[in-house]
Amino acid sequence: MILFKKEHQLQYYLNTLRLNKKSIGLIPTMGALHEGHLSLIRKAKEENDCVVCSVFVNPTQFNNDADLEKYPRTEANDIELLTSIGTDIIFMPSVEEVYPKELNTTLGLDFGELATTMEGEFRPGHFDGMAQVVNRFLNMVQPHSLYMGQKDFQQITIVRNMLIQLGSEVRLVMCPILRQDNGLAMSSRNVRLTPENRALAVKVSQTLSAAKNLIDKKTPKEIEEWAMQELNIPKFRPEYFSIVDGITLQLIEDFGKTNSAVACTAVWAGDVRLIDNMILKS
Ligand code: PAJ
Repeated sequence: MILFKKEHQLQYYLNTLRLNKKSIGLIPTMGALHEGHLSLIRKAKEENDCVVCSVFVNPTQFNNDADLEKYPRTEANDIELLTSIGTDIIFMPSVEEVYPKELNTTLGLDFGELATTMEGEFRPGHFDGMAQVVNRFLNMVQPHSLYMGQKDFQQITIVRNMLIQLGSEVRLVMCPILRQDNGLAMSSRNVRLTPENRALAVKVSQTLSAAKNLIDKKTPKEIEEWAMQELNIPKFRPEYFSIVDGITLQLIEDFGKTNSAVACTAVWAGDVRLIDNMILKS
């Protein structure tokens, strides 16, 4: 494992690999790593000569300072985990390294309704910041393949759209959601759940699974309404439960008229915001 903190040192190293025709896989993360993140690294290791994992808590994608402040930071543990599974390169740049003053960081891309629905409605500006930083890391690392999780379904959909708009040749690989035994989707934010809310949080994945079993019996709208009630439990507050087309992220009115349907939800469990999704039809 080699740890880089500076862009120019990383690039110098990667240029040599590229000259030797080695394939490079990139996994961007914000740290506080768990098995879900590690599954992306493992997949990238199977497919590349060199795997680069970036660990950077990106300030531009947080909606408020409190959320940024509260974001768990476990740098030493992240390095240990990444080293234990044989990550070739860890890139941990500072905010100044990623956003030097002279750098024009605005992307100027328009993601249309992909970025205004669901998460976009409740976290305005979030996806612009996310796309900005993913693009910045793509430029710094210039990987052949980019590994991202289905866990953030809207995020990966927007990144796919960004790659198309930029005419990028980077291969985007979507990795499945890793869950705990009880079904709770692994997330860096889970460490902030109280024991009581952690136990109740299984309801989120249970509702998604139940929704999947209802697609032959109910309309998308009926399932959405039913799910919002199911998730309305004490100390929990569902923000949305939307059944959308997997490509356009537009609400689906009739399961019979679409080939791909995904149920996406965001639920506050106390002061922790959980997001999860399930592919109902693909
Ligand atoms: P972060 O939340 O750290 O997630 C990094 C990657 O891990 C994302 O692609 C995410 O979808 C994936 N991931 C998270 N939990 C997962 C799980 N349970 N199973 C499988 N994959 C999982 O997403 C971000 O960081 C940031 O927005 C980032 C893309 C790094 C830009 O700052």
